[in-house]
Amino acid sequence: MVTKRSIADAPVRGRRVLVRVDFNVPQTSTGAVADDRRIVEALPTLHHLQTAGARTVLISHLGRPGGQRDMRYSLRPVAHKLSALLGQPVPLAEDCVGIHALEATARLKNGEFLLLENVRFHPGEEANDPAFAAQLAQLGELFVEDAFGTVHRAHASTVGVAKRLPAFAGYLVEKEIRGLSRLIDHPERPYVAIMGGAKVRDKLPLLQSFLGRAQALCIGGALAFPFLAAQGAHLGATAVETGLETEVQAFFDAARASGTDVHLPTDWLIEVPGEPDAQACPADQVPEGALARDIGPRTRDRFYAALAGSKTVFWNGPLGLAEDKRFAAGTREVLAGLRGIEGFHVCAGGDSARVAQDLGVEAAFQYISTGGGAALEFVQGLELPGLAVIPDV
Ligand code: ADP
Ligand code: 3PG
Ligand code: MG
Repeated sequence: MVTKRSIADAPVRGRRVLVRVDFNVPQTSTGAVADDRRIVEALPTLHHLQTAGARTVLISHLGRPGGQRDMRYSLRPVAHKLSALLGQPVPLAEDCVGIHALEATARLKNGEFLLLENVRFHPGEEANDPAFAAQLAQLGELFVEDAFGTVHRAHASTVGVAKRLPAFAGYLVEKEIRGLSRLIDHPERPYVAIMGGAKVRDKLPLLQSFLGRAQALCIGGALAFPFLAAQGAHLGATAVETGLETEVQAFFDAARASGTDVHLPTDWLIEVPGEPDAQACPADQVPEGALARDIGPRTRDRFYAALAGSKTVFWNGPLGLAEDKRFAAGTREVLAGLRGIEGFHVCAGGDSARVAQDLGVEAAFQYISTGGGAALEFVQGLELPGLAVIPDV
């Protein structure tokens, strides 16, 4: 496991400390914070800075405003939520760079906080523009990386600033490294991965990386569609991600030689237009016009059987359209089964933690990551730019 220079050893008292957090949280239709998990998980770092007498300047993005000032992506609702959680006001600087931000940071007293407005309102952020990174770096004397969910991005606020200031890892980043490293440094075997969700192109490298590393790999949800389609399955009106034929074939070829048992769905729960209830059908025989929406009961049993005796489990991505009650059973039943198995179970993914919570099966996990893409890359064993830039100890 890699160990990074820790915030615990940073001389923060009376200093302006620039902290990159990932407050990219889901919002309600009125803009309020719908899930405060990422804010709550940053509190150990923030409490430490508060009691140690730092002058804390928080940087985050929210959504993908594309380098434009677009107030739908304002961090104001986050400032409200954070103030409530910290029990002290956290003012929002209307721009993350410029004279007003500089003045506001200069006014900070020991133990106080300032949140900067969405750093992605500037194109220089995602471009990791050196001039923009230098402007951000002016706002602090030290840098703390605690935005685990964003360390896979080489942006100005994750990499550019870290190169310009003495950089330390925050407590959330340390916790994520500890939790997720257990999956790559000699995981206790058998190791089983359960993958679902929708973004096949994004997840293919991770699926590949499990071949030879995991004893079993169960693929459900919309993630399974291109694999079944490649085997000639009829999927009715189901939308299948296209253009992946070569990659899928390469995956099957690698799987055969890998020693990893790959389990694809053998049955579905389908949605038939005009019919209110879900119906079951074999995985390769979805009728014309119908949609594959959840893994069926036989597949649940098969996935559950693959988990028997496992010591380490990684789960990412719902096994069906879990937001719809009719199609949540696959995910719920498999995860409820996991709850009864002893071992180290990790949940990662933007939607996965929320789905586990909504389905009441969070207790199946010993570790729930705040990372989406970042966690998936970490678990593949890739080097993440926002971590690479923090000195090792
Ligand atoms: P995560 O963010 O946890 O990695 P993804 O973003 O890849 O997960 O996928 C989550 C989405 O996939 C959810 O909205 C879920 O409803 C959808 N999904 C999974 N299986 C199906 C399916 N069979 N049909 C339609 N949507 C599905
Ligand atoms: C996430 O939610 O995965 C992170 O906040 C990164 O957001 P991004 O995918 O827009 O870079
Ligand atoms: Mg998602």
